[in-house]
Amino acid sequence: MTRTSDDDLRYGFGTRAIHAGQAPDPTTGAIMPPIYQTSTYVQDGLGRHKGFEYARTRNPTRDALERNLAALEGGRHGLAWASGLAATDAVLKLLSAGDHVICGENVYGGTHRLMVHVFQRLGLTFTFVDTRDASRIEDAITPATRMVYIETPTNPMMRLTDLAAVGEIARRRDLLFVVDNTFATPYLQTPLAFGADIVLHSTTKYLNGHSDMIGGALVMSRDDLADRLAFLQNAAGAVPGPMDCWLTLRGTKTLAVRMRQHDASARRIAAWLAARPDVPKVYYPGLPSHEQHELACRQMSGFGGMISLDLGSVARARRMVESVRLFALAESLGGVESLIGHPASMTHASVPPAMREAMGLTDSLVRLSVGIEEPEDLIADLDLALAQAAEAR
Ligand SMILES: Cc1ncc(COP(=O)(O)O)c(C=O)c1O
Repeated sequence: MTRTSDDDLRYGFGTRAIHAGQAPDPTTGAIMPPIYQTSTYVQDGLGRHKGFEYARTRNPTRDALERNLAALEGGRHGLAWASGLAATDAVLKLLSAGDHVICGENVYGGTHRLMVHVFQRLGLTFTFVDTRDASRIEDAITPATRMVYIETPTNPMMRLTDLAAVGEIARRRDLLFVVDNTFATPYLQTPLAFGADIVLHSTTKYLNGHSDMIGGALVMSRDDLADRLAFLQNAAGAVPGPMDCWLTLRGTKTLAVRMRQHDASARRIAAWLAARPDVPKVYYPGLPSHEQHELACRQMSGFGGMISLDLGSVARARRMVESVRLFALAESLGGVESLIGHPASMTHASVPPAMREAMGLTDSLVRLSVGIEEPEDLIADLDLALAQAAEAR
């Protein structure tokens, strides 16, 4: 666990991204944090060392990343994990058998799978609710409820949760409030400022931004939570290696400029898609037609690079994802390159079909992760793919 300093939090976002946690290396003056590719550290004598004993517990490259991520989210403590799901796993291990969690019904499929197929077996219970309406969270609270876990915007339906409203409920009812901020990133939304206790990331996505590693992160300001999670990080050991920490740190340096471009291109592409009669539904919080656009304007400073569209038929969806040339058909999101996916058979295949259908996650839904290529080229690619899709039956 690494603590931010007041200095880390003093600067604007783009400055924090480049400098927080990244002082020149004291040994050599190297401007970039070295990759400390080591498992252990030599001690001067029994109980006398330089703060590093064994790399599962601490590693200087990971320290640099943790401090950087904490500064970006405006939190006091950062903890890095081997994947986003390892971070979720650690958060759920704060609880004990018999405890109850209220989770947004539309979360990443792997999050749902971890809750239902692992933690339910170990004695936690879960209620999945539509958190677009915060009162549903309040209605689902039982004496055993300990945690509210949400994504906003959600993957892939782009639903929003009112962070301030849920933050208020969580405080009043003494519940831990966990927000997966992977889609928005701290550049567009900082949940801690709205009352979240823990912010979670799959750093695999926008924070790394270059699709070349898997990682997760947790950021919090409460010392007690940081201590418990740091204990879990060391006790269970799902830590990232130094090379992956370094790659993530390289990514966060450009997060601000990348997010500005992802956001600008996605706004343009979403508006272009929404004007097409052959695309029956477009889900993007930046569209005035999005049912929670006003909330998005209130709690986000932009809308991000993720768009979902419903083509009305599975055959059309299939044809579209197989016809693109610049967009690559692949799982994941948030990289500089554009990706296209079919959530029902890919990222959300582990969610029961009835649950998928109920929330509009149909078999004809396609998800775009808009990269930072020239938007005209992306639009031309989608235009050709949609023309192909129109011919599918
Ligand atoms: C919103 C969200 N949260 C968490 C995860 C899990 O992260 P990881 O794949 O790094 O384990 C994902 C992965 O797609 C995701 O999209």
